[in-house]
Amino acid sequence: MKTITEALKDHHDEMRDLMKKIDKDPENFILLKKNLDVHHELEEDLLLSELNTMDDVKKESLESQEEHYVLNVLLLDLADFPKDNYRWKVKMGVLEEILNHHLDEEEEDLFPEAEEKLSKTKLEKLGKKFLDLKKKRLEMALETKDL
Ligand SMILES: [Fe+2]
Ligand SMILES: [Fe+2]
Repeated sequence: MKTITEALKDHHDEMRDLMKKIDKDPENFILLKKNLDVHHELEEDLLLSELNTMDDVKKESLESQEEHYVLNVLLLDLADFPKDNYRWKVKMGVLEEILNHHLDEEEEDLFPEAEEKLSKTKLEKLGKKFLDLKKKRLEMALETKDL
C-alpha cells in the first residue's frame, strides 16, 4: 500500500511529464492545470493541514501552501492568456521554474519530515484517501469543458 508521500511523489512525476508534453504542444496546458488544482487541494487538505499544526514541520508546510498560492495565480494567468502570443511560452517557462523548484523542495525537505512525524499507518491511510479522491476529482475535472 502506498503512503501519501509516495502517492504525492508519483503525481509529481506525472506533472513533470506533463510539462514536457506542454513544451511540445501548449494545448496540453489544461491537463497540467487540472492535475495541479486537484493536487494542491488534496495535498493541503490531507497532509499540510496536519503538518501546519506541528511546531518543527510547520515552517516547511506553510511555505508549501504559500507556493501553491503563487502557482495558482500563474496557472490562472496562463489559462487566460492567448497561447499564440510569444509571451505565453515565456510565462510558461517561469511557471516551470517555480513548479520544478516546488516539487523538488517538497520531496527533499517536506516529505521526509512528514514521514518522521506521522506513523506508517497514518501515512498509508492518507495515501489511500489521496488516491481515491484524486481519481474521482480528476475524472470529474476532465469531463468538464476547457476554460
Ligand atoms: Fe505542493
Ligand atoms: Fe506536491
